[in-house]
Amino acid sequence: MFGRERIEIKTPEQVVAMRRAGLLTHAALESARAALRPGITTRELDAVAAEVIRAGGGTSNFLGYHGYPATLCISVNHVVVHGIPGDQVLAEGDVVSIDGGAVVDGWHGDSAFTAIVGEPADPADVELVETTRRALWAGIAALDRRGRVGDVGAAVEDAVDGRFAIVDGYTGHGIGTAMHMAPEVLNHRARERGPKVRPGLCLAVEPMCTRGGVETDVLADEWTVVTSDGSRAAHWEHTVAVLEEGLWVLTAPDGGASELGPLGVRVPQE
Ligand code: MF3
Ligand code: CO
Repeated sequence: MFGRERIEIKTPEQVVAMRRAGLLTHAALESARAALRPGITTRELDAVAAEVIRAGGGTSNFLGYHGYPATLCISVNHVVVHGIPGDQVLAEGDVVSIDGGAVVDGWHGDSAFTAIVGEPADPADVELVETTRRALWAGIAALDRRGRVGDVGAAVEDAVDGRFAIVDGYTGHGIGTAMHMAPEVLNHRARERGPKVRPGLCLAVEPMCTRGGVETDVLADEWTVVTSDGSRAAHWEHTVAVLEEGLWVLTAPDGGASELGPLGVRVPQE
């Protein structure tokens, strides 16, 4: 997809500028998380996040992207990604993936999480969400080895360990002066190991897993991606910068320290 484009390498100063977009992205997603409850509509959650981005002096990178009509993607149960906020009323036990991003001073953030509304309907939903979350952090941690971008997918695949299906055909991406840039970041092991990991590389890592198969379909709205077998899905994403001193997860409030420290990865203090 982005195979022939050159990779945008950031200076340390540019990474600091991207951190502002990352923190506003985090604040927007947290506001939606805090509002998540049975009875709320996905449109209401979208409005909450939109206001946080506006008040923080940013803009949404999703709104208007190839005509996308909202600030967030809200993907419920068998919807994997790119669910459009609307009249859907959330219910206890729903598995809800919320994806969003902010642009500040021309720099982009992109992040997603999956949460369960109220009491889980099935312990397997909890396991799906947690496994996908751990796969995200394993994928991020793999960047600290300064090998190849393909190490991310290998680490994601190892972390999922066959317990859930890794969605086919959707990937992470480079990020910076645009939301989607080179290189592609696969969520599975591949023969092509990808470009070298080096300081200044900024990536959005975003594993997507399902309780069923790897196949998806896009609905008639040309956005909503659903599992072909109707199984539930989860999606986690962070924007991360590779630095000389270690890794900095720009969309995590602590820069990733609490998750990456135990994995033996250095996260520089701000
Ligand atoms: N944030 C998504 C991704 O993770 C892209 C959303 S597409 C949009 O790459 F149109 F909704 F913006
Ligand atoms: Co993304």
